[in-house]
Amino acid sequence: MAEFDLVLRRARRYPHSDIVDIGVEGGRIAAIEPRLSASASTELDAEQKLVSPPFVESHVHLDSAMTAGDPRWNESGTLFEGIQIWGERKQSLSLEEVKNRAIETLKQQAQQGVLWVRTHADVSEPTLTALQALLEVRDAVSDWTTVQVVAFPQDGIYSHENNLELLEEALKLGADAIGGIPHYELTREDGVKSIETIFKLAEQFDRLIDVHCDEIDDEQSRFLEVMAACNIRSGMGARVTASHTTAMGSYNNAYTQKLMGFLQRAQLNFIANPLINITLQGRTDTYPKRRGITRVKELWQRGLNVSFGHDCICDPWYSLGTGNMLDVAWMGLHVCQMTGKADIEACYEMVTHNGAKTLNVEADYGLEVGKPASFVVLDSIDPFDTLRRRAIATIVVSQGNVLSTSEIITKKWI
Ligand code: FE2
Repeated sequence: MAEFDLVLRRARRYPHSDIVDIGVEGGRIAAIEPRLSASASTELDAEQKLVSPPFVESHVHLDSAMTAGDPRWNESGTLFEGIQIWGERKQSLSLEEVKNRAIETLKQQAQQGVLWVRTHADVSEPTLTALQALLEVRDAVSDWTTVQVVAFPQDGIYSHENNLELLEEALKLGADAIGGIPHYELTREDGVKSIETIFKLAEQFDRLIDVHCDEIDDEQSRFLEVMAACNIRSGMGARVTASHTTAMGSYNNAYTQKLMGFLQRAQLNFIANPLINITLQGRTDTYPKRRGITRVKELWQRGLNVSFGHDCICDPWYSLGTGNMLDVAWMGLHVCQMTGKADIEACYEMVTHNGAKTLNVEADYGLEVGKPASFVVLDSIDPFDTLRRRAIATIVVSQGNVLSTSEIITKKWI
């Protein structure tokens, strides 16, 4: 009889829905069989509930997480008041407090089955404290969650002297990806130049790209077409991501139809952040009031890779949230009107597999023999049921280690 470190019994495997046992050895999945004849030092019973690959948080800001109300609340609810408040708060950042807040947030996410996280780190402040803290966090948590850090010039690359040097320094220090914010540069020309610079740096340092692109309701904000053009010319393909692209929700259909063809040629990834987009955007509208989210359904129907991120957790832009990706998918399927059965299942993919594609970690992601033994058991039977009831994570396993288990209510009420 085979001997494993861990066996998970009676798990309803996603996406096949068959009931299997999963054997884990040396942190990797060693066997998946209907009835595994094996013993293990740890045996867990999934009780025929869904076992899924972990949730993927493809867009979050861990440096600002858990600071809501400090030094003041965002009363207007706009992106730009949020940037002002964060500008005040980041003057007093220390390495330890950023690390503590980030690790606390990652723990909350891990308990809810989120084991892959891409965080942005603001590199617009001269000490690079946020970046250094998140790089240290990335290494400190690597045995239970996988973190990617994006060097994000929150205040723009060309809007302040030295910001380009700070971005380059962040890459030398080891950031995984290069960020940007072209719609917040001083002029359209600076915005275009910022994207060209980002692609040059990506080639020079061999890094991924993830740009906050057109996060505004302005239908004239058209930096996505610049990203698509740069990506077609660079051939970087799926190593490039456009986050937010909320202006696309306001583009006219004739322009969007033309743009979609370029986006399909470019094959870049998209990240929408439904909780944040629905609350930050539309603030200058009276009525009708726009939803302020990108065209998720159309991008998905065109075969482009779209994932959902939480974006902000208890910070100057969004004072709520626990980092639960089911909250994100739930809001996404509502505001994007993705309520068909296949649509809802696609929204589940947007917080799991599609996020893994965006992070370029597919080789290590999924319920397959040989891959890292990271998975979550949910108190549900399939993705639809998971989202309808926003099922809790009852067992979370990361790289073969059991991170958490929680009891399901079993009382017979009548
Ligand atoms: Fe963001």
